[in-house]
Amino acid sequence: MGVELFDTSTPVHGLREELRAAVARVLDSERYILGPEVSAFEAEFAAYCGAGHAVGVANGTEAITIALRAMGVGPGDEVVVPSFTFYASAEAIPPTGATPIFCDIDPQTYCVTADTVRAALTPRTKAVIAVHLFGNVAPIAEIEALGVPVLEDAAQAAGSTVGEERPGALGTAATFSFFPSKNLGCFGDGGMITTGDEQLAERVRTLRFHGSHDKVTYEQIGYNSRLDELQAAILRVQLPHLDAWADGRRRAGCHYEEAGLGELVALPQPTAGAAPAWHLYVISDPQVERLEAALAAAGIGHKPYYRTPVHRQAPMLGWAAGVELPATEHAARTHLAIPMSPVLTREQASEVVVATRATLA
Ligand SMILES: Cc1ncc(COP(=O)(O)O)c(C=O)c1O
Repeated sequence: MGVELFDTSTPVHGLREELRAAVARVLDSERYILGPEVSAFEAEFAAYCGAGHAVGVANGTEAITIALRAMGVGPGDEVVVPSFTFYASAEAIPPTGATPIFCDIDPQTYCVTADTVRAALTPRTKAVIAVHLFGNVAPIAEIEALGVPVLEDAAQAAGSTVGEERPGALGTAATFSFFPSKNLGCFGDGGMITTGDEQLAERVRTLRFHGSHDKVTYEQIGYNSRLDELQAAILRVQLPHLDAWADGRRRAGCHYEEAGLGELVALPQPTAGAAPAWHLYVISDPQVERLEAALAAAGIGHKPYYRTPVHRQAPMLGWAAGVELPATEHAARTHLAIPMSPVLTREQASEVVVATRATLA
């Protein structure tokens, strides 16, 4: 039968009328930039995360650059970042003038730890970017206990929880992406910065708007980086469903476990206390190429996301001399994302497991 890697359309199918009405509302309002929909979504998203403030920006990459600058990161500073992540987590650092310093991960959770971060700290470290990779939740409090401010890269972790808390309210600030395939996705590009610090939020608001409050006087070199009214209206329709979708993602992970996938390959391990809304369900196996071929033959979606880790990508080589990250290299070599969505059924999970068993058992 085959199983798609993602299913982004089924979850929103029942919301089509509401989405059309939201788009019509924006058209009728004739307000397209920084209007009532963005303000309302910022308030709703801040409340959802349990963060004091949320500021909409153009995408999850600029969210990181702007958040770092609002945290005071600039030329001469170092920012610690994992190498096993989407390229943008590190790409967003050099535009601040700072230098990326690559750190390793825990091979079971795919997240940074206090130990891997500690190994990368120097007197020039100004911030750490802790990526909540694949929807897992990095141990922010343990990293902050090292005495360094943490920016959560929560692009993949909307809907995840850790105890009573959520990504977005764990570090000094957090960034989100609303790229269409994300757990909460809009119909274009979009991003958000959350923080509990009112002054930091105000700096973000200024930076996203050309470094200005009024587009008359300019306080600094900023960005034109705004979430637009259409995307905010679309996101407002979807946000009330995020928790149910997150439950569906967790349920899909359970389907894989119950079908015996853990007997065949290494399953992703939640960090302590976390209930990840798996954005990607990433397994690991030494014979991953064989598995890729078998899944392709069975029409089952799969993707190795980060075969070449960020510190070995050409533009990063100047910042990666002598960097050795054994867990990152292992994960890069052996990981594979298999189908995951809020609506992945028990039958689909067992189809994936049958194809895996036929290849690896
Ligand atoms: C971990 C991570 N960080 C940052 C980003 C950048 O987000 P965007 O594509 O919205 O710029 C993404 C997603 O694309 C991501 O997965």
